Amino acid sequence: MAAAELDKIDEIIDRYAGKEGMLIQLLLDIQNELKWISQEAMERISKRNNIPIGHIYRVVSFYKAMSLNPKGKHIVSVCLGTACHVRGGLGIMDKAKEFLDMKTEGTTPDRKFTLERVNCLGCCALGPVVVVDGEYHGKMTPSKMEETLKRYD
Ligand code: FES
Repeated sequence: MAAAELDKIDEIIDRYAGKEGMLIQLLLDIQNELKWISQEAMERISKRNNIPIGHIYRVVSFYKAMSLNPKGKHIVSVCLGTACHVRGGLGIMDKAKEFLDMKTEGTTPDRKFTLERVNCLGCCALGPVVVVDGEYHGKMTPSKMEETLKRYD
């Protein structure tokens, strides 16, 4: 891990120094600012705050908002729940993979995009649905998918 990232982790740990019940907020800050929670980050928090690493690991694994793998700057969630699937969700996913030059879902090597599948976003009537950085895009088509991704830099 780069020295700058370790410095950032230390800076975030400093923010919560001496505060009770700070673990979740501290981990969310690391997730938001570094886009993942590395083994080094967990070790650092464990050592500096005297929290067993197993406990930190369990918290990170429990919360969907936290990731043990690097996430991209932009999170692209393609719905492949039943309603979106029957309306062409897989074609949307294939187009996203093609545009991002990825064989499988995950994070691009430049860490610009993370592509993931979700099961239902609760707005099936708008399907197929894609969410990019929290913004919903309904009635998606493969060409709209490409246009949408081009807008994110
Ligand atoms: S199945 Fe996609 S929003 Fe419900």
